[in-house]
Amino acid sequence: MAKIIAGIGSSHVPAIGAALDNGKTEEPYWKRVFSGFEKSKQWMAQAKPDVAIVVYNDHASAFSVEMIPTFALGCAAEFPPADEGWGPRPVPVLKGHPALAAHIAQSVILDEFDLTIVNKMEVDHGLTVPMNLLFGQPKDAWPCPVIPLAVNVVMYPPPTGHRCYMLGKAIRKAVESYPEDLNVVIFGTGGLSHQISGPRAGLINSKWDKAFLDNLTRDPKKLTRIPHIEYMREAGAEGIEMVMWLIMRGALDDKVDEVYRFYTVPASNTAVGHIILENARKSAGARKAAGKSRRGAAGKSRQAAVRQRSHRIASKGTR
Ligand code: DHB
Ligand code: FE
Repeated sequence: MAKIIAGIGSSHVPAIGAALDNGKTEEPYWKRVFSGFEKSKQWMAQAKPDVAIVVYNDHASAFSVEMIPTFALGCAAEFPPADEGWGPRPVPVLKGHPALAAHIAQSVILDEFDLTIVNKMEVDHGLTVPMNLLFGQPKDAWPCPVIPLAVNVVMYPPPTGHRCYMLGKAIRKAVESYPEDLNVVIFGTGGLSHQISGPRAGLINSKWDKAFLDNLTRDPKKLTRIPHIEYMREAGAEGIEMVMWLIMRGALDDKVDEVYRFYTVPASNTAVGHIILENARKSAGARKAAGKSRRGAAGKSRQAAVRQRSHRIASKGTR
């Protein structure tokens, strides 16, 4: 059976991609941003997921105002990086997982979430930047296949936070009914607070962002009741991207362990937020009943190994 082992939240600022592509990561402005993802890359290298589901938004690269699906699931065998005006980013073509993607489409659509099935799609910074932040800059190939889920947050009306959260639950059910043993991570990307144009351009609301991250871990249902107008007012016009994090959160247990968090302002116009959430460990009693010990490496599951390591990084995360 496939299972979702963790959820990752990450901003997707395009200038982060430009800093990577143009060798600026050691400049103090960018070092501050990239330093917050070093431990996460180690976490990811140890987690070694078999597949990543990346919930992101297209910025008029694959779609345009002519056609904007609310939820579009990438079922193709590969997803090339899009040309966003300066040529495609120099990152490897992303390999898909058509079999799992088709299974998710079937399960979720029959559960009455009307996804759009996309069999050909280029992916922009919304997907490639979080991939770099968590997997680094591979030259030839990404370490695991990716299933992109593009969400409309660029033209009114985007989906509600509640709809996103419930879709996350349907995706989890779909993954768990896939017969192959696969460890899956799910990304929620975009945000945090930012506004790119208009009189409030440059708006950042760290207090609101941090409360969002707190509730993402502890009380996500509270977040599902936030109306669009509140995202706009408190987190800026592009802050609405944060609803995508609720798909990731919906795919996890009600109780999760926050194993890492990072927050810095600004990167370009945007507050950068990042979080890693794992499904809560079983209680000591339950572990004993299951005849498992967390001590000693022999026989330890990959997920347990990741968790032990995560607890080391948790104490060092930046808030
Ligand atoms: C910026 C942020 C975004 O989320 C985006 O899609 C484009 C630009 C910015 O901060 O400049
Ligand atoms: Fe964006």
